[in-house]
Amino acid sequence: MANPTYWDYLKLDRLLDLQGGLEGDEKQLMSDELHFIIVHQAFELWFKLTLRELRLARDHLAAPSVPEEKIPYVVHHLRRVNEILRLTAEQFRVMETLTPQDFLAFRDKLIPASGFQSFQMRELETILGLDDADRVTLGGTAPIDHIEKLATDSPGGKLAVEHLTRARAETSLRSAMHEWLFRTPVQGSSPGDAGDEETVDQFLSDYLAALVNLNRGKAEQMASAIQSSPEQVRQQMSRQETMAKDFLMASDVAEADRPRQKRVRAGVLFIESYRELPLLAWPRNLIDTIVEVEELLVLFRTRHARMVERVIGRRIGTGGSAGVDYLDATTKYRIFTELWAVRTILLPKEALPELSSAEKYGFA
Ligand code: HEM
Repeated sequence: MANPTYWDYLKLDRLLDLQGGLEGDEKQLMSDELHFIIVHQAFELWFKLTLRELRLARDHLAAPSVPEEKIPYVVHHLRRVNEILRLTAEQFRVMETLTPQDFLAFRDKLIPASGFQSFQMRELETILGLDDADRVTLGGTAPIDHIEKLATDSPGGKLAVEHLTRARAETSLRSAMHEWLFRTPVQGSSPGDAGDEETVDQFLSDYLAALVNLNRGKAEQMASAIQSSPEQVRQQMSRQETMAKDFLMASDVAEADRPRQKRVRAGVLFIESYRELPLLAWPRNLIDTIVEVEELLVLFRTRHARMVERVIGRRIGTGGSAGVDYLDATTKYRIFTELWAVRTILLPKEALPELSSAEKYGFA
């Protein structure tokens, strides 16, 4: 075989021949449209790599048991995802060099094509664990159904259906994370150990008692600092305590799933609370990295929405949505809800329930 060349390795002959747009000939395109095509293609390439990294992270985490030394690999893949998300959010600046009026010169011929049909973006959301039921619909149609309805027999249409069908059949990062969190040793006890349910229940009730105790001591001081009545502050705190209890007892979850979900939540709470224990160092690092994935995805959506507002104002999108209002609504999506919720109820170290079986959390 001949020595490899840069151009053959990267298939540059094919890659650089893919920017012809609907005309199939880039010479017929004005430079603004070539810019528009290249920016979108660059994003889709980054999405492709993101999907690969997310699947690798998910596969490690979905194993029936995840040894401590595997967690750095999960974190490694997710950190790459985070850097890509950070970079692509910045990339919208390049798109913004398209002026609103120049975009109008070719916008209408794109209708009804839209980023709304980016099947890799939907795949990414699905692999992370966004439920169809939680998505904002377009005229009552869920975004993925929308793509499947539009997908014809064209090569792109077939690819879209193939990608989405595959993603929907897979375990999401969210479910893999739940399985892993479920097995977290809480106060030294793991699922399957004698009395595990009682140990977890005891930890949760000690934790709630510590939260109430801490609030009691603070109500007067808070009230005078914010010039409110102690009664009003107590009411707010009591609402927060009810929320904490509902969350930790998994009252929002169907009864059949409640014990499992309660243990998942106890697991996150335990890792976040006793995060300095040697054996919890990587698990908390992993949780931080997953929170960052979601934070960066929200920032990506927000950045896209602001860019869209700058370029097309409040017009409807070429895909038929309300445009910026639709995009802003998607910034409310949260996939890793437990990781966010636990932040509201964390206690300072000195107020935490006493740790038992500390020796089990040291390095072997
Ligand atoms: C001038 C440039 C752009 C404009 C005016 C624009 C506008 C819009 C609008 C209005 C929507 C909502 C759906 C619709 O009704 O069409 C949308 C969705 C979307 N756009 Fe863009 N966009 C631009 C560039 C980009 C770029 C560079 C990307 C990178 C891949 C992108 C990715 C997406 C994605 C993934 C969605 C679906 C969002 C969701 O449903 O969560 N857009 N875009």
